Amino acid sequence: MFRIEIDNINGKTKSLYAYGDHSILIELEQQNILINHSCRQGHCGSCILQLLSGDVIHQDSIIHLSQGEILACRATPVTDIKIASRN
Ligand code: FES
Repeated sequence: MFRIEIDNINGKTKSLYAYGDHSILIELEQQNILINHSCRQGHCGSCILQLLSGDVIHQDSIIHLSQGEILACRATPVTDIKIASRN
């Protein structure tokens, strides 16, 4: 089980625990932590998060990501992670 800590949710840090079998977007939604998203398939880029620490498996997407950026809908944690929302 991995710890997901997310900064900048309405100015606060929130944390949750996940088994790593769903995308970060789904894990957040299951805890009623809502971030921007639209397509859920790695096409729109609206769910970009900053990965501050830890590692994720990232499925292919057509979005160009800068260093440290991940798509919440395409990334799954494989360690404890710390992420930040741009909302
Ligand atoms: S929701 Fe569109 S890229 Fe993640």
